[in-house]
Amino acid sequence: MGKKKKGKKKSPRKKQIRLASDSMAARADRYELYLQSVQAPDVDVKFFQRVYKSNFKQAAQSLREDFCGTAAVCCEWVGKRGEREAWGVDLDAEPLAWGQQFNLPLVPEPRRDLVHFVEGDVRTAKTPPADIITAQNFSYCCFKTRDELRNYFKVALGNLKKQGVFILDLFGGYESIEDEREDERDLKGFTYVWEQHKYDPINAFGIYKIHFRFDDRSEMKDAFVYDWRIWTIPEVREVLLEAGFDHVDVYWEDEDEDGEGTGQYSKQKYGTCDPAWNAYIVGVKTG
Ligand SMILES: C[S@@+](CC[C@H](N)C(=O)[O-])C[C@H]1O[C@@H](n2cnc3c(N)ncnc32)[C@H](O)[C@@H]1O
Repeated sequence: MGKKKKGKKKSPRKKQIRLASDSMAARADRYELYLQSVQAPDVDVKFFQRVYKSNFKQAAQSLREDFCGTAAVCCEWVGKRGEREAWGVDLDAEPLAWGQQFNLPLVPEPRRDLVHFVEGDVRTAKTPPADIITAQNFSYCCFKTRDELRNYFKVALGNLKKQGVFILDLFGGYESIEDEREDERDLKGFTYVWEQHKYDPINAFGIYKIHFRFDDRSEMKDAFVYDWRIWTIPEVREVLLEAGFDHVDVYWEDEDEDGEGTGQYSKQKYGTCDPAWNAYIVGVKTG
């Protein structure tokens, strides 16, 4: 979730920060801040469609967003376009309700029925077979053993149509497992903070946190906390193949002439030793 736009490194603040009930932090909405900080549903949807078309030479119509939170991607997917339909699956009723209140109204009224909010576990929730399934912002890293991961991937394979793509993102690089590190990014009216709280190299378990800080020195601490296994690309690729996907592609971020990431991703066989990278891993079901 700290992905896409990299911030600048800062030492963690030790100082107590005030949180009066009238502070900016107390008045802020964590889902809105999250959306502004780490999500870009329009960019995601274009990328997903490009990946699908490059495999099957036609446009996808249906998308299932696993771990959907506020289902921002589902709403963007349905948008104003054709017959597109989306299912968002999340365990937690709170972000789903937020999405229905704030994201769904962005979809033109007659099309809103094409967005389905499903409260349930991604491993058991039943939805019609989809062209694309996506699990974004590293959410599947909550599965900490190969068996758990393979089990989830097998379920995803079964939830795709005869032909389809399963699109996962992942982060890594030596900076991304540095303990007690904070990266800050100044956004409109607040600062987004990605904290790498703790990393255990024996198990590759990591605790990561998002905080939001404001100009009145108030802070929304631990707005989101994640307890993940930090998988590697080859592990995810191998487990996707074990689960039954026909092949797996890795999309790596393109660089400009100064070596900076462009935000565009293309299929690659080899990567470069970036200290903090994001990539997409795509399991393809060819039918
Ligand atoms: C990291 S957030 C991802 C939100 C959104 N997908 C995004 O890209 O920003 C993780 C979400 O996964 C949900 N979640 C965790 N375990 C789940 C499970 N087994 N089944 C369904 N949702 C789950 C949580 O409730 C939370 O909303």
